[in-house]
Amino acid sequence: MKKRDFIKNMTMGGLAMPLGGLIKNMGTKPQKTFTFDGDWNNVRKAYQLRDYINLENGYYNILPTHTLEHQIDQLRDLNDDGSYYMRKYMTSDREATRQTMAQFLQVPVEELIITRNTTESLDTIISGYPWQKGDEAIMARQEYGSMLDMFKQQARRFGIVNTMIDVPLHPESDEAIVELYEKAITPRTKMILVSHMINITGQILPIRKICDMAHKHGVKVLVDGAHAIAHFVFKISDLNCDYYGASLHKWLSVPLGAGILYVKKENISEIWPLFGETAYADTDIRKLNHTGTMPMHIENSIPFAIQFYNTIGAERKEERLRYLQRYWSDQLRTQKGFIINTPEAKERSCGIANIGIEGMTPASLAEKLMKDHKIWTVAIDSAGVKGCRITPNVYTTTDELDQFVKAMLTIQKNN
Ligand SMILES: Cc1ncc(COP(=O)(O)O)c(C=O)c1O
Repeated sequence: MKKRDFIKNMTMGGLAMPLGGLIKNMGTKPQKTFTFDGDWNNVRKAYQLRDYINLENGYYNILPTHTLEHQIDQLRDLNDDGSYYMRKYMTSDREATRQTMAQFLQVPVEELIITRNTTESLDTIISGYPWQKGDEAIMARQEYGSMLDMFKQQARRFGIVNTMIDVPLHPESDEAIVELYEKAITPRTKMILVSHMINITGQILPIRKICDMAHKHGVKVLVDGAHAIAHFVFKISDLNCDYYGASLHKWLSVPLGAGILYVKKENISEIWPLFGETAYADTDIRKLNHTGTMPMHIENSIPFAIQFYNTIGAERKEERLRYLQRYWSDQLRTQKGFIINTPEAKERSCGIANIGIEGMTPASLAEKLMKDHKIWTVAIDSAGVKGCRITPNVYTTTDELDQFVKAMLTIQKNN
């Protein structure tokens, strides 16, 4: 949705808020430099924010002005240089960014490409795998819809069988989750699709244990890491997965339209590219990266986003996001009338959690939060999850979360 339409819809939805209220920027002047002295209020100043409370950063993370200003420079340069840039420098710049990203993720560059988003990364694998009629794939109902749709398409096209499982909202142990996947494996199973963090609840799954189990049965594991990269600390190489896709415009705060696809070396040759490519050998992952003319200013902004992230520090960011989530969820967890749809164990979640109010639809809760309290969230009413997904970001203050908790208590009381 365009910004103009976004504002129009909000107003037509009767938000009882002057239009100017939504479009007002609350930040300071754009800055191209960023330093972090440990004071989160200064991180907030690195953003230009609207005057509503944004607790829907799970869709994508808006850019700090540092990265935004650099992106604008990149766009301007690209436009000034035109096809001269594209012909002379596009390929070498793409390669340089791929190297930078491989270093950042600590994976061999031969196993990584930069894509436009998680959808492109995962769908490249789902559509490019050499499926045979009767092959089986396992996935949870809580997986992202586009990937489930892509598997449905393979079922129609090649006659594969998709086995659905349900991940419990509050699992007893890692082993209980692994067992769920293992029980669904048959001699015909070829692939498991599993989210590193389930997008509707924020639950983190034990990927390494699932991969180790799957490999014992000769089953490949495709990991949806849309919400994991630059959210919490891990190494893809420690997961022992076969394929890993993620979006960089989520937690790394790269401008919209960037993602990564990791494919373990031994799995590259059997994957068919989505777009024809003969310049690279079947064993070269770059065969999967032919997407035509690219908005290069997006990829060229990736190093600036990495710079911003590194200045905060990976561990510090993870700790802050988990702190913010627990700050509000621990206050509401024990109150009557609320349902928390995210596991309580600290290691099973980070910045994202989901909460519902008994007897109230998620849609009305989201609407009340925005209309009456100027708090923007998203309603989730699918795959056994009923509630609003609450996603703070590094610029979120505890003051804002106090307002959120107060709003929830008021809404619940008046329900
Ligand atoms: C778990 C998960 N997978 C995939 C996606 C798709 O991401 P994108 O639209 O960037 O491709 C999302 C988006 O929110 C997601 O939450």
